[in-house]
Amino acid sequence: MRKIEDLDDLNNKKVLLRLDLNVPLKESKITDSTRIDKILPTLKYLIKKNSNIIIISHIGRPKGQIDKKLSMLPVCKYLSDKLNKKVELIEKKIFDIDPNSVFNEKGDKIVCLENIRFYEQEEKNDEEFAKKLSSFAEIFVNDAFSCSHRAHASIDKITKFLPSYCGIQMDTEVNALKKVTSNIERPITCIIGGSKILTKINIIKNLIPKFENIIFVGGMANNLIKYKGFNIGNSIVENDCNTIIDEIFSLSNQNNCQIIFPSDVAVGKKFEDMAQIKNLSEIQNEDMILDIGPKTINTICSILERSNTVLWNGPAGYFENPNFAIGSKKIAKKIISLKNKIFSVAGGGDTIAVINEVNAFEKLNFVSTAGGAFLEYLEGKEIPGIRALKL
Ligand code: 3PG
Repeated sequence: MRKIEDLDDLNNKKVLLRLDLNVPLKESKITDSTRIDKILPTLKYLIKKNSNIIIISHIGRPKGQIDKKLSMLPVCKYLSDKLNKKVELIEKKIFDIDPNSVFNEKGDKIVCLENIRFYEQEEKNDEEFAKKLSSFAEIFVNDAFSCSHRAHASIDKITKFLPSYCGIQMDTEVNALKKVTSNIERPITCIIGGSKILTKINIIKNLIPKFENIIFVGGMANNLIKYKGFNIGNSIVENDCNTIIDEIFSLSNQNNCQIIFPSDVAVGKKFEDMAQIKNLSEIQNEDMILDIGPKTINTICSILERSNTVLWNGPAGYFENPNFAIGSKKIAKKIISLKNKIFSVAGGGDTIAVINEVNAFEKLNFVSTAGGAFLEYLEGKEIPGIRALKL
């Protein structure tokens, strides 16, 4: 990949900078800023080189609709504070923006477009949309490794219209993951959780031959629990996954990979509830599975004790409510207690938030900002954002 540092002249150049500032928000407040903090070196580098910066990012999944709760405004404010510079949010619709008036006359040099997923063209990798975005700048920089598994307009198609480079964080993450995956020591345990079931379930088949244990927790596990014939009540679930799960179990038998899913869970009827521990056969129609139970935590801990590497993506429950954060925190604590024995890599926005809550960030061997992109990278495929930078 061509790197931002390879550019000789950035002085006064307009740089379109794709970042992944998809940080967790609670009532428009940033609850974990790691993803923003990680890309500050790239912004500082461009500022030092006197570039004019146009930031693009998404937050959440607004699916082509404007959703004020997912505005980039809190992120702009946070960046302004950190950089001690104005970061202006451009609220005007992208097709109405005149390329010559992106920067105001006051000489401000950093602007940010509103959540790029407010436009349906983004996820469609739309050519006209990418062309319009490209008209604002002279150079494109992708420093968004964590969403480079998406062939979207501001990641993929845009590279057709502008000379394209990777940012400092993207380069660091790709190199670190390359190193980690080439020296990996068996037995390897992969813990997969979180709520993005569809994004991840299709990847698992390709991971089975590479790992000894794959542990399903969080929303990911619900599909397996349901497949095994248990009632999962009101829990989140993805429909039509039984064929994939059939394949997951038969491939795991052929490859000696153990598939583990919860044997007990913590449920609530509402997200704000206290946790009630239940065996799978006790789950009622109005229950939501919101965490793993103590028996499952013990099983995971003993598997970790027999592993030499752990790869973790996705929390074990609805950790936003501390009553359902126990599974995730116990996993994090177990991993760091095995620090001298196990090589640990974790990734993903929510996973980072959990890791920060137990002050484990510095104690793991590597923490990636990426969740889905991290898993796709582990699959061994070249992800679209990286491929596009090489063309
Ligand atoms: C992430 O949080 O993993 C990235 O921002 C990508 O988000 P997505 O799964 O909604 O594409």
